[in-house]
Amino acid sequence: MKKRLLTGLQPSGELTIGNYCGGIKQVVNYQDEYETFLFVPDMHSITVPQDPETLHRRVREIVGMYLACGVSGTKNHIYIQSEIPEHANLSWILECNAYMGEMSRMTQFKAKSEGKKEIGCGLFTYPILMTADILLYNADVVPTGADQKQHVELARNLAQRFNKKYGEIFVVPEPLIPKLGAKIRDLLDPTKKMSKSAENPKASIFLNDPEKVVRKKIMGAVTDSGEGVVYDEENKPGVSNLLTIYASFSNKTIPEAEKHFEGARYGDLKKEVAEVLVEFLTGLQDRFAQVMSSGIVDETLDRGRDEARAIASVTYDKARRAVGLGRV
Ligand code: TYM
Repeated sequence: MKKRLLTGLQPSGELTIGNYCGGIKQVVNYQDEYETFLFVPDMHSITVPQDPETLHRRVREIVGMYLACGVSGTKNHIYIQSEIPEHANLSWILECNAYMGEMSRMTQFKAKSEGKKEIGCGLFTYPILMTADILLYNADVVPTGADQKQHVELARNLAQRFNKKYGEIFVVPEPLIPKLGAKIRDLLDPTKKMSKSAENPKASIFLNDPEKVVRKKIMGAVTDSGEGVVYDEENKPGVSNLLTIYASFSNKTIPEAEKHFEGARYGDLKKEVAEVLVEFLTGLQDRFAQVMSSGIVDETLDRGRDEARAIASVTYDKARRAVGLGRV
């Protein structure tokens, strides 16, 4: 039997090339090796205010992007979190087994709540819902970017704690962080990660950005003082980020990319980064348009929902019985 891989991308904004490198690309690379679960965590997105119509649209578009990126809709289980009620049900059981202390240490919660007067409880407990997402399907590996590693560690801890208390119910998942592209950085402030929800859209390359916009954003990216296109995260975070993007989208290693740019100037680097991105994104956008006009998204989601629910309900039932809920 194949091992299981599971991941999801929130529909809380337009997807960026960071989301592609940390999430989707890994699924594309591993989908033949693992039984793959790729879902849309829409319940995570309402931890911060969302416009309902936009959220509905993005849920379908994210699936369109998965398919356009080369994720197979027939080989894999592709589904929407909110269509499987077991996610919320298991999350509650896990919440009752998680500690305030460990939740308070989640760096993403600290960052997202900083300076806010009213912080929704969902923002605080969201990593537990993420744990439920993973444990329901007994996932062996969870590919994500570096920013989600702490949440996968929490899922490991909660699975181990639960198994110790109630018997072996859950598989303890492993994070799968890519060697290259685990943290694509903000183009204007390379100390931060590139984000779907960046205040300034010039800081991120979105998968649906038109060619002209991509070129403009890359040419406007912050570089560093000095010269020489070399990878040095500490002293040249801007150049290192552009090299990472170049390597990721031209399927090269960082040393190969450095060699390619030997003697080049920052301007040459930017031009080539823009070129590889435009080539990738225009192909992707063409496939996306075809997918969205084909009806395949709903077919995929209907099938995925039924397959996923059949698996999730078995695991949830075990957990429910183990803690004593309902009738035996
Ligand atoms: P989200 O929606 O913020 O991000 C989706 C995926 O993209 C990765 N990522 C990045 N990778 C490289 N560079 C970046 N700048 C960058 N920004 C984001 C993320 O690490 C992630 O892999 N909580 C998750 C969604 C989720 C999930 C899950 C993931 C919900 N349940 C269960 C895995 C398993 C999130 O907010 O990801």
